[in-house]
This record gives sequence, structure tokens and C-alpha cells, in this order.
Amino acid sequence: MSSAEFDAIAAAPGRVNLLGEHTDYNDGFVLPVAITQRTRVAMRRNGTDSFSLHALELREAVHFSFQSAPTEHFASYVYGCLALAKEQGAEVPGLDIEVSSEVPMGVGLSSSAALEVATLRCLRTLLGLRMDDVLIAQLAQRAEIEFAHVRCGIMDQMASSLASTDRALLIDTRSLERRDVPLPQGSAVLVLDSGVPRTLAGSGYNQRRSECEAAARQLGVKSLRDVRRLEDIEALGDELLRRRARHVFTENARVLQAVESRDAAAFGQLMNASHASLRDDYEVSTPELDFLVSLLQAQEGVFGARLTGAGFGGACVALCAKDALHEVAGEVLAQYMAKGYDGRQLVP
Ligand code: GLA
Repeated sequence: MSSAEFDAIAAAPGRVNLLGEHTDYNDGFVLPVAITQRTRVAMRRNGTDSFSLHALELREAVHFSFQSAPTEHFASYVYGCLALAKEQGAEVPGLDIEVSSEVPMGVGLSSSAALEVATLRCLRTLLGLRMDDVLIAQLAQRAEIEFAHVRCGIMDQMASSLASTDRALLIDTRSLERRDVPLPQGSAVLVLDSGVPRTLAGSGYNQRRSECEAAARQLGVKSLRDVRRLEDIEALGDELLRRRARHVFTENARVLQAVESRDAAAFGQLMNASHASLRDDYEVSTPELDFLVSLLQAQEGVFGARLTGAGFGGACVALCAKDALHEVAGEVLAQYMAKGYDGRQLVP
């Protein structure tokens, strides 16, 4: 992708979430960090009123216009961003668009948010649009919900648009207030893929969201963020909704506890507790993720580990002692592969 051939180029990173899973669509707290892998989008006016989208890694070329939306799933993210920019009043011309991405796809590191945010950033540069980074995240989330039909929260798009790679970003997903949170001293983030594919829209993601809404209705609150006492959740008659709500309540508390504690060991314990809650109460883990997490947790150089992202497959995140990181990754992957699974290191 050479800048001379295009009128604008922009990039946006994927993210890994350290704590606060399935809390964002309940108006709660999340703690993601950006990863170094990024998605790049380049645009060139083509003098027509249609779009030609070329995804280098996917080796796919797709043609569409505002009158005729693309049917390919990956193209719907880009189309959604173009349509929403137009809705905001931007005069979007016909474009040749090239996408190239280092963000691993389908593992829970937000490749779709990186694509959406990079597309909107590129449009902002190309057309000189007045869109701040929060508005970009909001439009990116709408693109995902309205055009890719995943009822996601706003964590991934906020992280891709606003987080940095060297510190975590605490986000209150209701007010969108945020605060930088340094990683505990001497620690580093390791991400391993379980090798189990995961498709977000096809998974139980939307179902979990509906269950949370049902629990909030039974508890008489606007969203599960507003529940004040765990006792109220424990009193819910429906056992399934009780467990879903308990995960959200305790997970929000874990995020807030983690940002107050600068201690790697305490942070790690909260990550371990998060995994147990996602496995038992929220039921979004898999046997492979549980096994990989248990291998990580058993390592001396690991403070804590859990599945990251929506679950149902994909990646695990561990907080490691910085100087043990490579050894831990090698040891755990060897043990995981010895059982016939197909793991790989994704971050760093
Ligand atoms: C996906 C969604 C996010 C969030 C996570 C789970 O990544 O896109 O909004 O809900 O799952 O924490």
C-alpha cells in the first residue's frame, strides 16, 4: 500500500480486554489495551458513484454502491461506515478502497472494530470531516450493529479508537468517561489463541445480551449496571438469569478493584476469578479455553489468566512477569499442542 497511489490512508489497532467481559452492553466497566497489530485502510476517489473494495489478506474484491449494498460479511463493516458518514452529512464520493490487516481475525481481538475505526479515520482524513475519536467509536459500533447485525457493546470500538498499547484504558461504557491505567509494575500481557474458531454473530452473544435485559427487567433496573446489592440478584427466581446477572455484577466489581490495586498478584487473582465466572455463571467458555487457561494459571511466571473477548472459542489473555513471558508462552503452548490442540502466540 503506497501512499502515492491513494488520497488518504489511516490505521487502527485491535485490542485485548484485560478485565470487564460482557459488561459493556450492561452499561458497565471495561479495561482493554490496544495491541500493536493494526488494520490499514486506503482510499482513492474513482470518479464514479460506486465503491470497489479490495481486502488484501482475504484476496477478495467486492463492488457495491449506496443503492446496492454488498452481501459479503466483511464488506458490510466498511459499507456501514460509509453509509453512516453519509447520514452524518458527509458527501461520500465513489472510492477505490484497499484494506490490509495484521489483526488476527475471529479470535476475540476486535479485527472488525479495527476495520471500522480505520475506515472512519480514513474518511475523516479524506473529506476533512469533523468527527472526534468518541464519535468515530460510536459510529463504528452502529456500523457493527446495524449493518453486520451483531448487537455488540461499545468496548471494542472505543478501545480501537482511543486506547494505547502501553497502558490499559478504563472505560465507563455508560458515560464514556475513561482513565489511563498503567499495567502493574514488572508485568506484561500475553495472548494465546486456543485454535478454536469463534463466530460472534453465530454464537450465543445476542442471546446473552437478551438474558441480561430480561434479568434487568425482573430486577426493575434500566441495566444490570444499576443493581446495587448482590443479594437482590441472589433473590431472582430464574436460576439462569440469576447466574448471568451475577457474572455482570461481580465482573464490574472486579474491574473497579483491579484499577485501584497496583499489585500484579491481586490483579491476576481478579483475572482468574473472571474466568471462573465466565465459565460457570456466564457459560461462554469452552473445554479448550478452560484447559489453556489452566495451563497458564499453573505457571510460576503468570499472575492470572482468563479467556478474552466474547468467548465461545478464540484467545486467552495472561498477565505475566515481564521477564518470564517468552518462557511461559513456549512452555504452555508445548503442553497445549501435546494434547493435540492447535495453539499459537498472538501478542506480543
Ligand atoms: C465482543 C463485543 C464487545 C463485548 C465483548 C465481551 O467483543 O464486541 O462489545 O461485549 O464481546 O466483553
